[in-house]
Amino acid sequence: MCGIVGFTGEISAKDVLLHGLKALEYRGYDSAGIAVETENGIKNIKTVGKVSNLVDKVNEYGDSLKATTGIGHTRWATHGGVTAENAHPHRAGKVTLVHNGIIENYQELAAQFKEKGLEPVSETDTEIAAMVINDCYTDNPIEAVKAAVKRLKGAYAFCIIFDDYPENIYAIRNGSPLVATNTDEGSFIASDMVAIVKYSKDYFVLPEHHIATITKDSISIMDLKFREVEPDMMHVSWDATAAKKGGYEYFMLKEIHEQPEALTNTIVPRIVGGLPDFSVDGVDDSIFEGINNITITACGTAMHAGLIGKTIIEKYVRIPVNVEIASEYRYKNPIVDEHTLVILVSQSGETADTLEALRLSKARNAKTLSIVNVKGSSIARESDYVLYTHAGPEIAVASTKAYMVQMSVMYLIMLRLALLKKTVDEAEVRRLTAELIHVPDYVKTILDSDKAIQKISNKIINANSLFYIGRGLDYVLSCEGSLKLKEITYIHSEAYAAGELKHGTISLITDNVPVIAVATQKDVLAKTVSNIVEVRSRGAFVIMITTEDVDVNTSLCDHILVLPKVDQDFAPFGAAVMLQYIAYYTSYAKGLNVDQPRNLAKSVTVE
Ligand code: F6R
Repeated sequence: MCGIVGFTGEISAKDVLLHGLKALEYRGYDSAGIAVETENGIKNIKTVGKVSNLVDKVNEYGDSLKATTGIGHTRWATHGGVTAENAHPHRAGKVTLVHNGIIENYQELAAQFKEKGLEPVSETDTEIAAMVINDCYTDNPIEAVKAAVKRLKGAYAFCIIFDDYPENIYAIRNGSPLVATNTDEGSFIASDMVAIVKYSKDYFVLPEHHIATITKDSISIMDLKFREVEPDMMHVSWDATAAKKGGYEYFMLKEIHEQPEALTNTIVPRIVGGLPDFSVDGVDDSIFEGINNITITACGTAMHAGLIGKTIIEKYVRIPVNVEIASEYRYKNPIVDEHTLVILVSQSGETADTLEALRLSKARNAKTLSIVNVKGSSIARESDYVLYTHAGPEIAVASTKAYMVQMSVMYLIMLRLALLKKTVDEAEVRRLTAELIHVPDYVKTILDSDKAIQKISNKIINANSLFYIGRGLDYVLSCEGSLKLKEITYIHSEAYAAGELKHGTISLITDNVPVIAVATQKDVLAKTVSNIVEVRSRGAFVIMITTEDVDVNTSLCDHILVLPKVDQDFAPFGAAVMLQYIAYYTSYAKGLNVDQPRNLAKSVTVE
């Protein structure tokens, strides 16, 4: 949610910033801007629209933009409409800055400035933050930043340039992410490593409430008592090509195809002697001791991975699992205590509601375990234990490979718990573990089912509304299929537990309304089939997803997508690919920007 980048060094700042913003565009894409220090002072260039618009505008300046220090921003609007004035960087007096986050008390602060006769140019909370920092500034940037943040409430990551220190960038964060690195070419800072991995794979996460002074030769960090702090260096295991489309038209398609590899990287290191084992993560079994219930909390797709976890953990471990939407959990006085294991699921590790859910759980003495993709992210750092998913960078706004690996970690947790609590005998745990190890190959076999799905997408492209139905694992998978479709095709869709439809919603089923029926669960197949018959007899156009070993009368549906034979508990991995393809090809057939759906941004760092 908004991407920021800063650079000071020996090479062209505008090139570094534009490259970084292009890579960060998944975080927001309604407007963009850069400010660079030129011989004639700071030049602030902003446009509405994608980073490509900004590139065109910057190119108009030609050589006059020779600069080696600058900051940039790609925006997902929160306060103030999508206009060039509201785009970042913002300027106040001697301060120019970019911001990711929300300043909650900006109206109160704006009123104070108004009394002094000072009016902002834009409608943004960010410009008010710039005014506060400028107000606190006499000649020492670090003191100004320290004094200013005392007056600001909310979440922020700032990169700031002061006119009097044109070769330096100052940064601070609270809640929103910032990573930084220093190389022979200079010093880089950004919301995410994708912006700077081209220059370095080593980096550190700027600790919260610490001020970074970034010069071309070094980056120093101080806490708010002005004590120097050594950064904890980290390393990314992927390189710049992982954050490029690599011949695919859209990142989403590339990421769907990366799923077998992501699954292998996530599952295999956690299998020792044919059994699940988290020693490699430093997660010892004590985390599962004394636990009599589990709460899984997350948002969106990550929450849907949690629903898969609930279904399989309750089935095999016989322990109650509660799945909570993080934005609800954090305000509802949840029933968790020291006997609860709270599992937080997040690709980015920065989702504001999930982070707050984590903090609340810790305050209630629950044990916390996060499943996170981005190393060193806030949720990973603050939880008691972390199980990283190894999906590599996920750039498309619609999550695919992250969901897949989150599901696989749910299976690993289920298996480890089943082993420890002896709810399943070891031979069966071994059999199920072997099934899990086979999942990456299984998913690979489904990747080339896309031709059949393209045909189906053409049938639903003109629908106003459609329904996903299923039972058990098929139902929770339907929730994800439906979210994916509406997110990137703008077609309204709903997921229903197949047996629930007749309690009201079936009145919406009329001629040619598409119903996607997920029917991989053999033990409830007959029931799902009756629900398919019910909707078909009301005119629905039924697309069924099932497995080849399921005995089903094909005349019951208009289209059938058949997954290779698999243990029904592992069918979600195959069905998920089909559901992702349905969303992808429908969006593609509608001519939409699959990777950057309207109104969205990937990492939701605001409430
Ligand atoms: C949908 C999607 C979102 C995210 C949600 C949580 O395709 O990607 O629903 O799953 O915003 O994000 P993370 O996993 O980063 O916490």
